[in-house]
Amino acid sequence: MATSLLHPNPTPTAITTLKHHHHHPSLKPTIPPHNVSFLTNTNRLNTNTTKCNAFFDYNVVNSLLDVGGDKFPTFLRSLLLEFEDLSDMQRWESVLFGSLIWIYLTSRPGVLIGAIDAYLLAPLQLGFDNLSGRRNLKTADFLVGNKIGEGSFGVVYSGVLVPKNVTVDQDVTKRGRSKVKVGIKGAEEFGEFEEWFNYRLSRAAPETCAEFLGSFVADKTNSQFTKGGKWLVWKFEGDLTLGDYIKDRNFPSNLESVMFGRVLQGVDSSRRNALIIKQIMRQIITSLKKIHDTGIVHRDIKPANLVVTKKGQIKLIDFGAATDLRIGKNYVPDRTLLDPDYCPPELYVLPEETPSPPPAPIAAFFSPILWQLNSPDLFDMYSAGIVLLQMAIPTLRSPAALKNFNLEIKTCGYDLKKWREFTRLRPDFQILDSESGRGWDLATKLISERGPLRRGRLSAASALRHPYFLLGGDQAAAVLSKLSSSRK
Ligand SMILES: Nc1ncnc2c1ncn2[C@@H]1O[C@H](COP(=O)(O)OP(=O)(O)O)[C@@H](O)[C@H]1O
Ligand SMILES: [Mg+2]
Repeated sequence: MATSLLHPNPTPTAITTLKHHHHHPSLKPTIPPHNVSFLTNTNRLNTNTTKCNAFFDYNVVNSLLDVGGDKFPTFLRSLLLEFEDLSDMQRWESVLFGSLIWIYLTSRPGVLIGAIDAYLLAPLQLGFDNLSGRRNLKTADFLVGNKIGEGSFGVVYSGVLVPKNVTVDQDVTKRGRSKVKVGIKGAEEFGEFEEWFNYRLSRAAPETCAEFLGSFVADKTNSQFTKGGKWLVWKFEGDLTLGDYIKDRNFPSNLESVMFGRVLQGVDSSRRNALIIKQIMRQIITSLKKIHDTGIVHRDIKPANLVVTKKGQIKLIDFGAATDLRIGKNYVPDRTLLDPDYCPPELYVLPEETPSPPPAPIAAFFSPILWQLNSPDLFDMYSAGIVLLQMAIPTLRSPAALKNFNLEIKTCGYDLKKWREFTRLRPDFQILDSESGRGWDLATKLISERGPLRRGRLSAASALRHPYFLLGGDQAAAVLSKLSSSRK
């Protein structure tokens, strides 16, 4: 199915290929015989049309093919050759039509890539997973440890996965037996969407989220498992989330050596704090851009759902409330899932009156229009703005302060500049106002209403082009030079 998509206009393409195959004997075997009679008919119709003209010179086509040689895919060859038989007007029309189709299929959220993913990559992954046993892990494969979280969907434990085919002897390291440390999450009424999203993300943007190791249905009941309950397993990416770091009095210095591998000597502390926060924001927004490019909106971006790894990477977790706007998966919002502290004013990724989605292929076909009209990705960008504000303004870090902020910002019509005049929370804007206020400017463009036609709030791609991220080069250079001089 996916291959047929690559071939937007199969019938007429094959038509003229036949006529020219004698120029290109290598094409001959690839043409199925049943096309022959059918195609020659049409060929006759086309003989009257003008040939050779300034724009699509026959020789140009031929020399292109010569240059391309055998590397030219067959369908491109036939496409080019077909041109020869069309009138000038028809040629322009087909070029225009082809380009429009191409733009449509490749514009966000990517119908073409989505089809390839759904009809080719997903079945391949399923087959591969079945062979490797990833989808039927067993309760006995785990040593389950502490409970590390309990949220909207079930319980999260840390644990270790003991691989079946690794014997103890093979597996001796300095620290003793090495096992994969895992986070496992499950419940009897499991959010089936979360599993689906993790498989999807492990194909589409694996580096942005916790490494997904697979799933299993508990085969017996014991203290942790209930028989029949579904469990998901991820690599345990880190002991603490950004939420844990933010709660600490020393934030953001407590992340300095994690993020930069060392303490930034010779840089004054407010500058260092600003750099750490910028580095975190850059990672969050880069990951958001990647998932949005595949049509997924996370819908639950907040510090507790961002795991900080030992290497200072920020991993997105908890896709239980995510939605895939490409095929309309899980888009009907369940408001109880959303965290009101980080939720944008629109509350929904799509307007409430949007009808429930048609079957996946049809939904996918219309998804670029839906995306253009509603910019559902901007939902996550508001939450990212709140994360920035909380990191940069110490008095907003506690949940109680955030609740007050949310009351105030609502009163101010979600206009952050107005809020700055109005607030009684005595915020310290030092970090946001540094570097000529670029951080503040970005915050005002994230925490705002999702206006019509995307005005009012930046998408992940445009946020990454904001001067806050771009114009830091001079400072980064200064920091690096200080780092290297302090080493001497
Ligand atoms: N892969 C992981 N690595 C490390 N910690 C994790 C991982 N997955 C979850 N956690 C921890 O478990 C907590 C809850 O997990 P989460 O998926 O957010 O579940 P919930 O739906 O209950 O919020 C997270 O805040 C985090 O501390
Ligand atoms: Mg969570």
